[in-house]
Amino acid sequence: MRSYKAKMVEPIHLPSREDREAALEAAGYNAFNLDAEDVYVDLLTDSGTGTMSADQWAAMMRGDEAYAGSRSFDELRKAVRDVMGFDHVVPTHQGRGAENVVYGVLVEEGDVVPNNAHFDTTRAHVANQGADPVDCPHELATDPDADHPFKGNFDLEKGWELVEEVGAESIPVVVQTITNNSVAGQPVSVENTREVAAFADEIDATFVVDACRFAENAHFVREREAEFADASVADVAREQLSYADAVTMSGKKDALVNIGGFAAMDDPDLFEAAKQRGILYEGFPTYGGLAGRDVAAMAVGLREAVEPPYVEERVEQVAELGRLLTDAGVPVYEPTGGHAVYVDAESVLPHVPKEQFPGQELVCALYLEGGVRGVELGGFAFPGTDRPDLVRLALPRRTYSREHLEHVAETAAAVKESAESYGGLEIVEEPSMRELRHFSARLEPT
Ligand code: F0G
Repeated sequence: MRSYKAKMVEPIHLPSREDREAALEAAGYNAFNLDAEDVYVDLLTDSGTGTMSADQWAAMMRGDEAYAGSRSFDELRKAVRDVMGFDHVVPTHQGRGAENVVYGVLVEEGDVVPNNAHFDTTRAHVANQGADPVDCPHELATDPDADHPFKGNFDLEKGWELVEEVGAESIPVVVQTITNNSVAGQPVSVENTREVAAFADEIDATFVVDACRFAENAHFVREREAEFADASVADVAREQLSYADAVTMSGKKDALVNIGGFAAMDDPDLFEAAKQRGILYEGFPTYGGLAGRDVAAMAVGLREAVEPPYVEERVEQVAELGRLLTDAGVPVYEPTGGHAVYVDAESVLPHVPKEQFPGQELVCALYLEGGVRGVELGGFAFPGTDRPDLVRLALPRRTYSREHLEHVAETAAAVKESAESYGGLEIVEEPSMRELRHFSARLEPT
């Protein structure tokens, strides 16, 4: 069931096979270099790519563009208090701006920051402070077939091992990312959040939740954690976030906007420090690098994210894409996560050796076969790690229909059927910062 209909549309088209081949070659076999108008179904990210509601567009028109004391900020402050339960808000231009103001204040050179798994920008902001970001993922996190309801959880044993190794005094912050984007969008249980909060408390660290996909996470908790079977998504979200000292938020995810973010917290001292850093990097604390209208749309979107049936339909659509792919014989990470399906590229293209980037080859093949754009999250994006080569197909919110999903599944099935015609790739040009190479490197077929 869909509880919304379209009232604004945007044409998309599938270029001819010949044009797709030329576009891919011109893009150096890197989907980030493709022009969006040459893409038919764009599953590169769920970040800022979704459809806003009529109420959000109405809020845009009413946005208060005052430099200071904007009414739109007041709307955001109230929405954050009602939906997430925090008294203080520092608006930022997007999620990484929130990471900058929070970690810039809390983390110092030589520190160590554990997280269930850092997203790239979180890792980069911790490292930028001269600190060491350490992942503490669930033991089944890298097994695409293991069945567990909360593969996104923080492994506390790893957390305590880290404390033993580096000492509690080196750990000023403990982070939990919900859902866990770097672990296939897998959810985190409220029980695990409580345990991590107690862990942070015991070692006297600030507990920060990366809340980008907090509503999607709350949906999984309702479905999978017995204690919350009768709770609403809004109640679960409030409960889960109540254990955090602060959140960093990308509004481009579960606040349903195209741009925006914020940090929120209870502690007035942390607020004051984050606000001052926000002035330096983002803007005055009632607009934070955004137009007043963007702040207004984010306030409305945050409330919509926890209103039924939005998030049930959202996560169900992702699961539907997972089922369509599985039915078409395409192996995916199980269970499917909240915002994306992760395809197991090594199983689709078993003859392509790891050093020839089977994941990136699959990204190229999906584009060639059907104009579908995904993103590789494996050996190409994370050089020097032995992650499985997964290709993420992230669904923008409230955007595509079942026909689009069917096209994606048919495309992936066609790739699998003609797998032998896809060889490997080699990098011919890469930027000096290897960690960021997947955004701009150029490749060629081997
Ligand atoms: N934290 C997580 C878990 C994220 O997934 C992202 C963004 C950020 C922080 C940073 O937020 O982009 O607003 O600055 N993830 C996007 C993605 C880019 O495609 O997964 P941002």
